[in-house]
Amino acid sequence: MSTSTASIQFYDYHPREADFFAEVLDGLSREQKKIPPKFFYDEKGSEIFEKICDAPEYYLTRTEQNILQENAEEIAMIIGHHCLLVEPGSGNCEKVRLLLDALKPQAYVPMDISRDHLKKAAKALSADYPWLDVHAACIDFTQPLDLSFCPIGMQKIAFFPGSSIGNFEPLAAVKFMSHVVSAVGRGGGMLIGVDLKKDKDILDAAYNDEAGVTAAFNMNLLERMNHELNADFDLDGFEHHAFYNADKGRIEMHLRSQRDQVINIDQQMIHFDEGETIHTENSYKYSIKEFQLMARQAGFMPINVWTDPEQLFSVHYFEVPAA
Ligand code: AVJ
Repeated sequence: MSTSTASIQFYDYHPREADFFAEVLDGLSREQKKIPPKFFYDEKGSEIFEKICDAPEYYLTRTEQNILQENAEEIAMIIGHHCLLVEPGSGNCEKVRLLLDALKPQAYVPMDISRDHLKKAAKALSADYPWLDVHAACIDFTQPLDLSFCPIGMQKIAFFPGSSIGNFEPLAAVKFMSHVVSAVGRGGGMLIGVDLKKDKDILDAAYNDEAGVTAAFNMNLLERMNHELNADFDLDGFEHHAFYNADKGRIEMHLRSQRDQVINIDQQMIHFDEGETIHTENSYKYSIKEFQLMARQAGFMPINVWTDPEQLFSVHYFEVPAA
């Protein structure tokens, strides 16, 4: 089940791969058409996402990086050294690098559903941090986390940066965090990046960058359906539409049909009215208080929170009370 190289172990839980076709057909048969945001990240989508992170309007990535960098020592002091650092959805394992030198964890456990990316990222990280034990797990982290393969007796800390939690509905976010509570156990913790509620103009701009990178990211979903599902979306027939929905506290991304049209996906015909949309993403924003309340509902205690001077982004640290 596991193969070891220098200081890397791989654990393959053979996560079930998403059925793009089935989920698209199901989503497009709803009253409000929708496609889950996880399908943004094919090879091209992942490349475009990296460009979003460099867009001047997209403050999230660089602000979180600055918060982690500037507070790494304090974070390490509060968490303590020699923990087992677990990262669900670790992707390229870039953000954790900001913490490793200060935190000096005993072991790092990147988890990702994408086997190849996980292996590549874990190897690159291990090469740069030869003192670090890396236990990479190919796993679907939206399912309850099972850390039984991890060395026992160490304090477990989950790291969930990037405001990825914003993609969950609030109730699902609480449920996910309660899975994390069970996985890290008493005395365990979670360091999590959460985008803050703020002025609508700043939020709207972050998801409508001038260069059109976010629009390309959203539109890539149509190209992906054309290539992979034998669909015939006319890219000129749809436009990127993103806005802050203040009532719901979330950015919504949609693909909006510019005219009345019928799309074929394999053998199925899908009708769009003019102005009708496919809802492609929610990105929830939370005040510090709101998010602390959700974490408490999941079984965590707020320990500390760090922000930037402009209060754009927050990094929370929570612990599971010892008794
Ligand atoms: C990766 C979910 C945090 O919601 O800001 C960026 C994805 N979508 N621009 C976000 C995204 C459009 C991003 N998350």
